[in-house]
Amino acid sequence: MATIDLAPGDVIADIPAVKHAAIDSMSAYQSLVDEADRDHEAFWARLARDHLTWHRPFSRVLDETNAPFYRWFDDGLLNASYNCLDRNLVNGNADKTAIIFESDDGLVTTVTYRALYHRVCRVANALRNLGVGKGDRVVIYLPMSIEGVVAMQACARIGAPHSVVFGGFSAKALHERMVDVGACAVITADEQVRGGKTLPLKSIVDEALSFGGTDGVRSVIVYRRTGGDVAWNAQRDLWLDEIERAAPDTCEPEWVDAEHPLFILYTSGSTGTPKGVQHSTAGYLLWASLTMRWTFDIKPDDIYWCTADIGWITGHSYICYGPCAVGATQVIFEGVPTYPNAARFWDMIQRHEVSIFYTAPTAIRSLMKCADTEDAVHPCNFDLTSLRLLGTVGEPINPSAWKWFATEVGHNRCPVLDTFWQTETGGHMIAPLPGAAPLVPGSCTLPLPGIAAAIVDESGHDVPSGQSGVLVIKRPWPSMLRTVWRNPERFRKGYFPEELGGKLYLAGDGAIRDARTGYFTITGRVDDVLNVSGHRMGTMEIESALTANPLVAEAAVVGKPDETIGEAIVAFVVLKDVMPKTSADAKAIANELRAWVGREIGPIAKPREIRFGEHMPKTRSGKVVRRLLRSIAKGEAILQDLSTVENPGVLKQFSHPA
Ligand code: WT7
Repeated sequence: MATIDLAPGDVIADIPAVKHAAIDSMSAYQSLVDEADRDHEAFWARLARDHLTWHRPFSRVLDETNAPFYRWFDDGLLNASYNCLDRNLVNGNADKTAIIFESDDGLVTTVTYRALYHRVCRVANALRNLGVGKGDRVVIYLPMSIEGVVAMQACARIGAPHSVVFGGFSAKALHERMVDVGACAVITADEQVRGGKTLPLKSIVDEALSFGGTDGVRSVIVYRRTGGDVAWNAQRDLWLDEIERAAPDTCEPEWVDAEHPLFILYTSGSTGTPKGVQHSTAGYLLWASLTMRWTFDIKPDDIYWCTADIGWITGHSYICYGPCAVGATQVIFEGVPTYPNAARFWDMIQRHEVSIFYTAPTAIRSLMKCADTEDAVHPCNFDLTSLRLLGTVGEPINPSAWKWFATEVGHNRCPVLDTFWQTETGGHMIAPLPGAAPLVPGSCTLPLPGIAAAIVDESGHDVPSGQSGVLVIKRPWPSMLRTVWRNPERFRKGYFPEELGGKLYLAGDGAIRDARTGYFTITGRVDDVLNVSGHRMGTMEIESALTANPLVAEAAVVGKPDETIGEAIVAFVVLKDVMPKTSADAKAIANELRAWVGREIGPIAKPREIRFGEHMPKTRSGKVVRRLLRSIAKGEAILQDLSTVENPGVLKQFSHPA
């Protein structure tokens, strides 16, 4: 790899590298990269021995015989919850605060590692009592809470893979996931509270179970969050606090193979229904904890705060598993960044003396806007001197948001770490190391040691620096997804496509490398996956939801670049009936369809704009001309050649939203 030789102006020179970091210089970084290049397996074996506690050590490192179904450390035995909890009881962290929980309305509860351990043991015992065993899947549909972490760790303790479903998904979406994963139990709450509003989670679970096909679900465990009224099925429903109290507070962990599935997390693809991304125990946990040290340079005194939800991979790797595996103290927040006002994050950083703050570009952009219009919520009103590192994740961060974050929040003292990764990668792939890499706004900089990231063309050949192409990972790494749950062909075809030779992991993003520095910039998805406020949505999922409505004949969904949320959802709809006659009619139908999508998938999938036309613009061979639709959504003048479009007259009808 080229040495880093940045021109003046490239480097944010006034943000100094962090001192005494785990990787404290470019040469320290380079020597790890070289170690991995020299002997990939020995490199990973060394790290897996140093960073994980094994019940039985592994002797095999990487098994490629059934590639791309790679296996790592596969004759080793361990338990993820043991590594996250028990380990902290013997290394001096027992009385250390594990979690500082702040509720939506500002109530703070803390729990030590010892207390967390006992809670997890009790819930693990209770699950076992209910007949949940190794390999059984448990769906978790919980708000941000200590209980969320307890539930996930309890599943891990007994070897029951969890499948967490984001609390913003609808009953339909929850049902689809419960059926696909074959759940035997669900852990939920009576209600969820966010931004002063409650959402009845338990009744959504009841509704999802009423759709049928979920006979395997024998128990629904309910965390009493608000004490609100819930319907009760005495044969099936149990209060979490009651079963917890009745269970013993220690629990022998289930020692599982390194490859035992720790969890299945659903994410959107460009086609079909959401896919259950399956992660392993050892490889996944290794990378979640190692990147806590490498990227976040976690130290014993840090107060770490990741604002993600446990319903997404970020909440798995960087709330539930990574921080606990390294014995960190972390803040968990129930609410939203704008309640009671848009200074909530800054206020919490000040009160909890947060030193490492990890959030999403969307949140930064919206808080930046709020701070521009209302002085009182500007971060300058708060003492943020506790901060030493800032991180972002989920979508590209534009240089102006990056600079605002660096200057107004980090006072140009804190490196801003733009971390690129995915549900499938388990942890960070390309990210700056705070003690080493000079930072460039808008670039996630360099791959972490051991991660063979590259940019190739459509046939899998490397493209020269300075040219864009698709991002691939050339060698397997321990925290990669193992398969798509119950769909190995979808895994193989989707992530190791034949067109690229069948050996490269295809991320699905476009990227470009700077010719001089080798730095990566991610240019966004190259498939039909949208990124809406950092939430991943498949266009086809939204199209299927729309066409399931009796009014709709055809639908096509595209993303429209948006300054704040990244991409806004724009739906082109052909109704079965005639076109809406008045604009009031069109608006009424659009609202009805929006609410429909909210029920089919969840509020995050509601199209911002719905546009009606009499026909879908298609090529003569019947393909929807998406590229054209994207231009129309952006309001661009149509410069494309329309000679291949069957019915170009319809484009005018689609030119404005209802
Ligand atoms: C997609 C993965 C990684 C956890 C949260 C999202 C986009 C993610 C970045 C970044 C540019 C990014 C990509 C990726 N993405 N981080 N730092 N810069 N794009 O996980 O839901 O699996 O989404 O998010 O498009 O493929 P996910």
